[in-house]
Parts: sequence; structure tokens; C-alpha cells
Amino acid sequence: MKITWTLQDGRTHTAEVANGINMMEAAVANDITGVVGECGGSLSCATCHVYVADDWLGKTGEPEDFEDAMLDATEAERKDNSRLSCQIVADDSLDGLHLIVPAP
Ligand code: FES
Repeated sequence: MKITWTLQDGRTHTAEVANGINMMEAAVANDITGVVGECGGSLSCATCHVYVADDWLGKTGEPEDFEDAMLDATEAERKDNSRLSCQIVADDSLDGLHLIVPAP
């Protein structure tokens, strides 16, 4: 599947991501500045925070309770479309997904 990030400087980066890879791993593999993934995807750091583009919110779904609590600890402002990207896993239904990296 393809995923596009809007970067902190406003440019976009699109990459091919294999099914089963989470969006934090995909961002790190693509050197996306601002997505860190300090805890390796174990839901304990909130450094993989991204905003989901509005037209994709229905497909990525809602955060689980623990992710929801962790989203209160993000460095950038939490918004209605905030997610921890390690909790979004690539599959064909997300082909074309658009994520926005929070500004520093
Ligand atoms: S990588 Fe730590 S919460 Fe997502």
C-alpha cells in the first residue's frame, strides 16, 4: 500500500509500505522527521504522534482506551484526528493513507 505524510515543512513524502507494518515503523524507515517511535511501538512514549487527514478518519478508526490515554501525553497539541501511528497497521484498506506530522 502507499502512504503519504505531510512533513513538518509542508512538503509531502509518499512511500510503499508492506501490509503488517505499522505507521511508526514505516515513518522511521522513511526518515520522517518528527515521528520517533522511542518505545518501539509498545504504546509507552507517544513520540509517534500524527494527525490523520480528515478524509481517512473513517478508515483508521478510533484509538483504543490506552492509546486514548497516551494521546494526552503528546508533545504537540492533541487534536480530534490525533493518533499514535504505531497503532495503525498497514493493510489494503488503508492504501493511499495520508498522515500529517505535527509541527515541532
Ligand atoms: S512508538 Fe511509542 S507509543 Fe507509538
